Amino acid sequence: MYWLSALLLAAFAKGAHAQSTAQTSVAPDLRECYTDPILLNRNNLPPTTMQTLIDIIRQIEDNPNVRVDLRVMAAWLLHTYRQDGIQYHRREGVAMSANVLPFSPTFNTFHRHRLLLRMIPSNPQGMPNITLPAPLKCALHHMLSTTVDARLRGDESNCGQLSQYRALRTSRSARSVDDDVEILDLSKLGGRNGQLRQHNPNDDVESTGSFGPRTARQLMGESACPILTGVVNSRWGAISAGNLIAGIAAGAEPQQISITDLTRGSVLNYQNVQQTVSAIFPATLAGDLAEAVLIQGTRGSQAIEIGSGGNWNSTQARRFFMLSNRLNIEMTDPEIAGGIDGFVLGNTLLSTYAAHSEIRLSQLLDMFYAPRNGVFNSNLRACNRQNLRTQFINEPQLAGETNAFAAALDTIMPLEGTLTGGLDSLVQSAIRNFQTYSSSNLHTLSCATTETTSPNFRLRTNLYIVLDATWPYNTIYPAISHLLDAIEVNKYGSSVTLLSAFDGSILIPQTFSVAEFHSAYTAAAHQAFMTGVNLETSLTTVRLMMVENLRNESASNYVGGNSTVLLYLLNSAAQSNQIVVDQARLLREGVPDTRLLIASSSNQQDNLANLVRDPQIDLITLNLAATGTNVDTNMAQVVAGIQTVGRRVVNPACGANFAPESSGTRQFIDFVEPGFINFYRISPNYFFSDNANARVRVSFGTGLAAGTLTVCHSRSVSMPSQNSSIGIVDTGAVTCQNVATSGTADIGLENACSDSSTIGQCPPLHFSVQSNAPGETSTATCIDPAVCRFPNSIRFQIQVDGLGCFSNATSILSSVIFVLFGLLLNIVRSL
Ligand SMILES: *[C@@H]1O[C@H](CO)[C@@H](O)[C@H](O)[C@H]1NC(C)=O
Ligand SMILES: *[C@@H]1O[C@H](CO)[C@@H](O)[C@H](O)[C@H]1NC(C)=O
Ligand SMILES: *[C@@H]1O[C@H](CO)[C@@H](O)[C@H](O)[C@H]1NC(C)=O
Ligand SMILES: *[C@@H]1O[C@H](CO)[C@@H](O)[C@H](O)[C@H]1NC(C)=O
Ligand SMILES: *[C@@H]1O[C@H](CO)[C@@H](O)[C@H](O)[C@H]1NC(C)=O
Repeated sequence: MYWLSALLLAAFAKGAHAQSTAQTSVAPDLRECYTDPILLNRNNLPPTTMQTLIDIIRQIEDNPNVRVDLRVMAAWLLHTYRQDGIQYHRREGVAMSANVLPFSPTFNTFHRHRLLLRMIPSNPQGMPNITLPAPLKCALHHMLSTTVDARLRGDESNCGQLSQYRALRTSRSARSVDDDVEILDLSKLGGRNGQLRQHNPNDDVESTGSFGPRTARQLMGESACPILTGVVNSRWGAISAGNLIAGIAAGAEPQQISITDLTRGSVLNYQNVQQTVSAIFPATLAGDLAEAVLIQGTRGSQAIEIGSGGNWNSTQARRFFMLSNRLNIEMTDPEIAGGIDGFVLGNTLLSTYAAHSEIRLSQLLDMFYAPRNGVFNSNLRACNRQNLRTQFINEPQLAGETNAFAAALDTIMPLEGTLTGGLDSLVQSAIRNFQTYSSSNLHTLSCATTETTSPNFRLRTNLYIVLDATWPYNTIYPAISHLLDAIEVNKYGSSVTLLSAFDGSILIPQTFSVAEFHSAYTAAAHQAFMTGVNLETSLTTVRLMMVENLRNESASNYVGGNSTVLLYLLNSAAQSNQIVVDQARLLREGVPDTRLLIASSSNQQDNLANLVRDPQIDLITLNLAATGTNVDTNMAQVVAGIQTVGRRVVNPACGANFAPESSGTRQFIDFVEPGFINFYRISPNYFFSDNANARVRVSFGTGLAAGTLTVCHSRSVSMPSQNSSIGIVDTGAVTCQNVATSGTADIGLENACSDSSTIGQCPPLHFSVQSNAPGETSTATCIDPAVCRFPNSIRFQIQVDGLGCFSNATSILSSVIFVLFGLLLNIVRSL
């Protein structure tokens, strides 16, 4: 699958639908993002991360009225939400008319965008009218639209320290690793420019004079580290999402477009170029290269500088990507990375379709930006970008396409001069510098490091955060944001609910969408929360909610699949008393699968130790900084605590009362990615007393068997796997069995608590299911996106038999009744 030889010579749709994002004013649908003061402040929008982008695209795809394929979706996103080059314009001291929006698409990136929309047609009739919540719409717009905001912000003294905010690539794992490969060492970059950039004296003299294009004037004397938008963060570097989606859209409908059609008949300045371009080139690499050639070339440069580094100004919830220089920023690092990724994904779509013809755009992105497995091929992963670049880019072809597109772009883009010759050699210089720069400056986390630093299991945790609002927002928000990333809040993973430590009320209702949570949990929202901690009220309220949850789950016959963690985040001393201790005990005994963790800014060991199961692990002291810099290490114990809580398996017949009732035979379907492992846990409350038939059975069920499954179980190791015996003295602690096609793995629960006199003393059953299927399977094993995150997820069945219902909470109650009854009897007798 190298070049798609089957390039359709599609007739270029002349006079395609006029797109509002191609017009020279801010598109009507996007104006809200520039007029509403709340939306205008990007701190109120969800962070610009790959997770957010995928989340929002998923929400669009899940809209029941949307029945379109990946191609239509990608093209529609570009036409609806991407408008490059929007800049702020305002004269000092001039009052602004209420009729004027001080923003318009004037930055140079806008011109390429207009041509792109002509090359990637979208039929607006293909999509229903979707209304995204405004913060999601604006976030999507900013993630897709490339522009530079060079306004002076006032925080420029920190420009030089941006490197301290380098991505902490290990965020999903507490393991310490050498992620230094990615550190952008500004001192090594030789001041302003990258290693390979030659200093060109002309560059320092930007066009001044009132005749210069606005682009140049915008960058004059303003911010030393301008904000680049259109960038999303991933573990594999910052990526221009506009390039990424455009490459996919162009690759999904390969076409050759004649230059004269593209320029609508304008006379080319350079005649000596190929007559057609293939849309995927200008959509990705050739587009940025052509911009650099024209802008730098007309300033008189002979050598075209490619690449421009920068960094986020935070380590969590990244929203602002700041460039470390202001000059020659036509092809920045995120645009290079997004360009390569979009180019590769667009060019491999045919083989991707062969594996799964109905793959969704969100799935394609999710597979490519994943630590393992890739897009039906472990080479097709973002971590492999360097190899993909050399494998897919054909230099002469790139040069021919860049030449032709530069000639087309030149007809519509205002420049500081007129090139009268030498286009060829400028393009050659740009491509040479692109190749050298990207071979050594992209700082992509390697696949090997990626794998050793990311867990091979995913969480599916319903996380309830009970928040003490006396935490300053700037301190606690990065920590919460980090947690959501670590537990993977998404439709197929974990959920988050924000509750008040003051009274247990719901501050932000349960959501499986990171974008939704971030748009709700803003600084203003935080200010409005009741401050203070009242364990008596909050724990009681939360416990009753958990009990109601159990009742609801019982009503819906829920057998399991998710874990539940209740996390208190305290910033003030909490008062405990007998009522609180009782509530904690009732929670432990009555909702046995809920794990209570308490993280606090001060050591409250003496005060709170009797509320949790294991004070050594479940009571955590945090030392969070107001700058949000050391979140990773600080939250490591919280993340580890959540990770060790297995997905629960229950007897739904018990409900919240644990009235004795056998589960009979029940089952649920679950999924695991090739090579991944799921961890489960069954409380002794479901198997305390003897039942010779009680057991758990794992099989492929009625699903398609793919590879084999390894099922391991343990009573003492909370995450049992084939390899978990490493470092464990008792080698018999973990037992494993394999499941092939129609086989089953049974875990018997007879006499499982015979050594314990109380439920509290009997350890739970931990078990795991690991897939041994190869990640490279070239066919989809689960094509229903309603249940499977990845089309190569492996389906299996967990069946329980003969589980019972046992609870201390009820036995206390019944023993009280028993005692009362006994008393009554004695009274009656004595009469
Ligand atoms: C889409 O729906 C919204 C809200 O219902 C409406 O305001 C808007 O005009 C519609 N847009 C189009 C193009 O129909
Ligand atoms: C990053 O910079 C933006 C723009 O100046 C600012 O609003 C935001 O608060 C900064 N974030 C952090 C974490 O410093
Ligand atoms: C469990 O998690 C899945 C997503 O991971 C979600 O769809 C489902 O509603 C959750 N169920 C419960 C009972 O929490
Ligand atoms: C339980 O179900 C009822 C009825 O569907 C719903 O109103 C309530 O919010 C649910 N409770 C919880 C804690 O989810
Ligand atoms: C167990 O660990 C070894 C060495 O760390 C590794 O090569 C192997 O793949 C692991 N096996 C499983 C099933 O995870």
